[in-house]
Amino acid sequence: MWKPEARIRFETSPEAWPSKVQAKNAKLFCPVRYKNLELQTRTWVPAMVPWRATEEGDVTDAVVEWYERFAYGKPGALVVEATGIRDIPSGPLLRISHNRYTDGLRRIVDAVKKASGGETKLFIQLIDFLSIRRRPSREKFFSQFLKITNQHRQALNLTEADDDAIRSRLLELADQDLAAILTEREHENYSKGYRERVTDVELPHILGLPETLPGLFASAATRAKNAGFDGIELHYAHAYTMASFLSKRNTRSDNYGGSRTNRLRLPLKVYDAVREAVGSNYVVGCRMLTEDCVEGGSKLDDSVFFARGLATAGMDFISLSRGGKFEDAARPAVGQAVYPYTGKSGYECMPHFISDDAGPFGRNAEPSKKIRQAIADTGCGVPVVLAGGIHSFDQAENFLQDGTADIIALARQSLADPDWFEKVRSGNGGKVNTCKYTNYCEGLDQKHKTVTCQLWDRKQLDEAGVQLTEDGKRRLTAPRWHLHRQES
Ligand SMILES: Cc1cc2nc3c(=O)[nH]c(=O)nc-3n(C[C@H](O)[C@H](O)[C@H](O)COP(=O)(O)O)c2cc1C
Ligand code: SF4
Repeated sequence: MWKPEARIRFETSPEAWPSKVQAKNAKLFCPVRYKNLELQTRTWVPAMVPWRATEEGDVTDAVVEWYERFAYGKPGALVVEATGIRDIPSGPLLRISHNRYTDGLRRIVDAVKKASGGETKLFIQLIDFLSIRRRPSREKFFSQFLKITNQHRQALNLTEADDDAIRSRLLELADQDLAAILTEREHENYSKGYRERVTDVELPHILGLPETLPGLFASAATRAKNAGFDGIELHYAHAYTMASFLSKRNTRSDNYGGSRTNRLRLPLKVYDAVREAVGSNYVVGCRMLTEDCVEGGSKLDDSVFFARGLATAGMDFISLSRGGKFEDAARPAVGQAVYPYTGKSGYECMPHFISDDAGPFGRNAEPSKKIRQAIADTGCGVPVVLAGGIHSFDQAENFLQDGTADIIALARQSLADPDWFEKVRSGNGGKVNTCKYTNYCEGLDQKHKTVTCQLWDRKQLDEAGVQLTEDGKRRLTAPRWHLHRQES
């Protein structure tokens, strides 16, 4: 993970929590209504991949229990992790790419409705991503993967040499000399592993994304509706296909790259196809970035333009994140794939307790306020969901009161304590286990290991019925609060 130079340590130690009466009167615990979106409170658990699906992308008992556990805390909304819309192998990431997944997904819906007593609205995040390969070994890259060209011959002064001779010469060179011989793209394929981009329009399937994606998203949304989800969240954020279309780095020369209008064209087309498929009475929102946080990427003025376009197109909510890109990600080890949350943009997305002057709490608040105001100026009041380092009642309530956002999302804080919402609402805020923002959970995510939280994964391991990770060392979900109410 990228580290800020300043290395200032921040602690989460909220000084005060509201009484039950204060919580009852707080905006945070008031309903929000806009078009199809109706939440009992303005609280939200954003998508978090816990790596609990099967290799085929099926829902497992552990997936159901993970969401059931959040639902006991009764947030206003809970968003199921990024779920793949294509029927292709993608490791233990949930899929919604075929009707065979519907029954499994319905199990999550049933469990969440029951555990929350129907108070929590359940959405699912729909994701598309492009192909990515692991970083190859030096030998493999130069002897098999690299296509030898005359450019290499010229750069090496071996114009008459055959491919094998060029490969052998390249293998002998030191890493620092390769940059002058390989193209920028070849060098990246060598040092980080091959990764497709939306700008690779010489590949027919990439050129054709604007034709294929609307249908894929629409079919997935129909399945989500059939499975009983209350709505869907289109993943237009971070390192994935739709965010890459929105990014300023999208230089496609067809109607889907270059200008802001062109970059927004596919996200709008996907929205229209989804809306057509699910009808006008179903929640359809999206998650997008306030800023790409990478060189040459989209900035706030781009996002303001996109948010206005998406809001006026008819979205029921707009959830805001920031960063989380591949472009500045750290070089992975040989045999590993590059992970988009390891660079500065990743830090902006999931900031750590060791931070810079801006600190890890509410880094996305200022841009969110500007985007919310810009949307309001269009005369449409789409609720804006804000996430990023929010863990205390005061922070959340202030962001609502000062017009920064309409709904407050807690990702790592609700992983650290899924009962945050119920504890705060019932005047038991003092019993909240506050997230330390150490990113232990994110480190597990990075390795595609079962995600847990260090605050609870070794606690009460002998509790009746507790489910453990395969190695038997960590519990899979946080201990239940009501079970321990008397003792605490
Ligand atoms: C383990 C983990 C998995 C995540 N998975 C997703 C995801 O599937 N989709 C997404 O949009 N964001 C994902 N995020 C980002 C969070 O939704 C959230 O934006 C980020 O953690 C910042 O909020 P926080 O400071 O409240 O944690 C993930 C975060 C974590 C820690
Ligand atoms: S492991 Fe737990 S305490 Fe640490 S950042 Fe993740 S949720 Fe917070």
